Formats: sequence, C-alpha cells, structure tokens
Amino acid sequence: MKNGAVIRLDEVSKGFGSQLVLNRISMDVPRGRTTVIVGGSGQGKSVTLKLILGLMTPDSGRVLVDGEDITRMKKRDLDRVRSRFGVLFQGAALLDSLSVFDNVALPLQERTSLGRDEIRDRVMATLEQLGLTGHENKFPAQLSGGMKKRVGLARALQLEPEIMLFDEPTTGLDPEKTMEIYRLFSETRERFGYTAVIVSHDIPKVFNLADQVVVLNHGRVWSFASPEELQLSDDPEIVGFVRSTMGTIYRSGGVE
Ligand SMILES: Nc1ncnc2c1ncn2[C@@H]1O[C@H](COP(=O)(O)OP(=O)(O)O)[C@@H](O)[C@H]1O
Ligand SMILES: [Mg+2]
Repeated sequence: MKNGAVIRLDEVSKGFGSQLVLNRISMDVPRGRTTVIVGGSGQGKSVTLKLILGLMTPDSGRVLVDGEDITRMKKRDLDRVRSRFGVLFQGAALLDSLSVFDNVALPLQERTSLGRDEIRDRVMATLEQLGLTGHENKFPAQLSGGMKKRVGLARALQLEPEIMLFDEPTTGLDPEKTMEIYRLFSETRERFGYTAVIVSHDIPKVFNLADQVVVLNHGRVWSFASPEELQLSDDPEIVGFVRSTMGTIYRSGGVE
C-alpha cells in the first residue's frame, strides 16, 4: 500500500441513531511507526479502534488491513486478520482469579499448541523485559496501577502482534507513572517492531512517542506527519485544539 500503510480507513462513516460520529473520515496508519489519535471525549476515538479491529462495522466506507477490506470479511478471515493485533484497553482487563504468570500465559495456552516448558520460558522472558520478574505469583489485586498495565502489555505481546492498539492506556496513573509507561511503550515498540496506534489524552506527553498524530473532532479527521506539524497548523480548529490542550507555550513564536 502507498506509504507502507498497514491500516487505511477510506471514507468511513459511523453513526448511532441520529448521531453521526465519524463523517467520511480517511486515514493511513504507517507500518512500524507510532500513530497517536487525540480528540475530545466522545469524538469517536474508541469507535475508530473498534472499526479497525472489526468489532464494529462502518455504515459506509472501507477499513483496509494490508489492502484487504475487513468490513466485508467472513468471520474466519476476520479472525485471521485479528490474530495480527494486540490490544491494551483502559482497564488492562486482567483476570482477578489468575496470577500474573497465568494471565500472561493465557493467550499462549488458548491460541497455540506450545508445551508447558516453552510457555513458561516465553512468559518469564516477557515478564523480565517488562520489569515484572519476581511478581509472577501475585494476583492483580496485589499490583499497583502501573504494574497492572505492564502485565496487560506483557499478555498482549505474547502472540507477537504486528499491530498494537492502545485505548487510553494510562488512565488512572499519576503523571510520573504515565511517563514511565510511555517510556516502556517506546522501548517495547523498538524491541518488538510492531505498528502502534495509541488513543490518548496525555498531551503533550504522548507526543514524545508519536510519529504521526491524528486529530478527531466533530466527525472530521486531520493527520499530521509529526507533533510539530500539528503545532504549526494554521487551521482554526487545530489552533483551538492545540491551544486548549497544550497551551500557547508550544506554539512557534509563543504569542499569547
Ligand atoms: N455501541 C454504541 N452505541 C451507541 N452509541 C455509541 C456506541 N459506541 C459509541 N457510541 C457513541 O459514539 C460517540 C463516540 O464514542 P467513543 O468513540 O467511545 O468516544 P471517545 O472519543 O471518547 O473514545 C459517543 O457519543 C458515544 O456515546
Ligand atoms: Mg474512548
């Protein structure tokens, strides 16, 4: 696909009842890079991720993954495409009755035919990479918020996803822990090489990771090749967005 886009939304519309959430939006997600999706509450960020995963179907338009339109796929083909994705959503969705080890091992037990020893080796290796060694026998209730997110990430990485989708992954974390998680995402992305799509309102923190920034507002979409381009935009809606989320200090010239 053009520009090595691994995901493309082509003129996608999605509404609920009389409410039109996405109005013929188009966007590309470049392969191997980090795309950050920002926008106010209720602007369709989570809906966009669900469309990409095929968990929702657009009213019109196409969602292409490696050139294949997933909106018209049979379940079996959709499952094949979905197996390339890893997801980390707000709550990290750990199973409370399972230990850290078992939570992380679960995708390998359910989705692969690997033996016990190999599963153990893989899980322990990921836990070590994410700084969780020594915590494998704890249960989610015994973990801090930041550690739960790490465990969620460890689990999502078990099946070696090509594309990771994050929906407000730092919800509930203080600013320091938020930075720590973003540093970890950055290291993890480099190590594993996946394409990342991160929905976040941690502006400007999350921009440290962003290659591309996508803004959703009132059903429309703007894509910027870098956070700097977003800040330099003279589109009035974007200027307003930048001002309200980042303050004038981030504008070139810094005029009040
Ligand atoms: N399954 C659904 N049924 C009805 N309305 C929905 C559904 N999912 C999302 N919406 C509505 O679509 C809009 C965008 O939702 P969402 O993508 O979750 O926003 P956000 O940008 O905060 O993630 C919201 O107004 C929400 O209420
Ligand atoms: Mg959301």
